Amino acid sequence: MSKRILFQFDSDSHCSTFDSVVAIDSDIDHLVPVANVQATSVEPLVHGTMFTRGGDDLKHTAIFIGGSDVAVAETLLRCVTDTFFGPVRVSVMMDANGCNTTAAAAVVCAGRHVDLAGAKAIVLGGTGPVGQRVGKLLAADGADVVLTSRSKSRAESVCQQIAKQLESDSVDGVGQLSAAAPTTSDELQSVLDGAQIVIACGAAGVQLASRENLAQSSSLRVAIDLNAVPPAGLEGIEVFDKAKGFEGTEAVAYGAIGVGGLKMKTHKAAIRSLFESNDKVLNASEIYALAKLVDAS
Ligand SMILES: NC(=O)c1ccc[n+]([C@@H]2O[C@H](COP(=O)([O-])OP(=O)(O)OC[C@H]3O[C@@H](n4cnc5c(N)ncnc54)[C@H](OP(=O)(O)O)[C@@H]3O)[C@@H](O)[C@H]2O)c1
Repeated sequence: MSKRILFQFDSDSHCSTFDSVVAIDSDIDHLVPVANVQATSVEPLVHGTMFTRGGDDLKHTAIFIGGSDVAVAETLLRCVTDTFFGPVRVSVMMDANGCNTTAAAAVVCAGRHVDLAGAKAIVLGGTGPVGQRVGKLLAADGADVVLTSRSKSRAESVCQQIAKQLESDSVDGVGQLSAAAPTTSDELQSVLDGAQIVIACGAAGVQLASRENLAQSSSLRVAIDLNAVPPAGLEGIEVFDKAKGFEGTEAVAYGAIGVGGLKMKTHKAAIRSLFESNDKVLNASEIYALAKLVDAS
């Protein structure tokens, strides 16, 4: 049988060592890290992957797109898939900066405690790569999402983009998306009121909600903080919390490392699944579907 070869495309000057380790731990035979990948360099790189092995053997070659810049990685993913034609293709996964595996794992953790369809979910600091994906996955599963930012127009623009993506993906039963930019504790409390889920997706080391705000949210059932750098994004949540009772509330809490176990398992499962066929394109929704399977197994 042909060896499993994974090409690691990274737009940074050095490939992510994190992504390399996870790849090697995912049953591949050879990892080929390629740094400094730009849109203009994609086509010849992809040609080398798709024209070397024929027929069923093509599934033993795959591409992982990483790097610290998620917007660049999205462009690279488009360039990769645009290079394929007909069945002459290889499977590809995008998880720049861990955006897709992190978002998928967080939403699966939320779904362990609350039926997402019809739930009210707050995505705090939701305009970054992780928050945008968390908002999309929650809405796709029927949650009504309020996505916050320091800028109302930025949050509105993200909500519109998500709604457009869900429409073009023809997702049924989508929840409502709305934007908020609370600037005071009272404004944040109004956003949180009636919510069952809060997921903090703000930048590292930024507190987005106080313990008091969370304690006053009597409907809250699950609170997830993806920030691992002190201070916590949700005051009172510890990075290792994993479905731990959140003092002063009826909610359970997850910290970044508490979500991280499922994230890592999902990342490895996604890489393994690339080698099942030569036509997979694993982005947020596909990785979320895998995360649900991993969680159920
Ligand atoms: N556990 C894991 O494996 C893992 C993997 C990836 C990411 N993460 C964590 O997940 C979180 C989200 O990641 P990301 O890459 O999406 O984050 P990000 O792009 O760095 O930041 C997300 C949002 O935070 C808001 N923000 C930035 N500075 C702020 C400030 N001083 N005050 C209030 N809001 C601020 C910004 O929104 P506005 O400017 O619109 O307000 C920004 O769009 C981060 O904490 C990251 O460290 C964890």
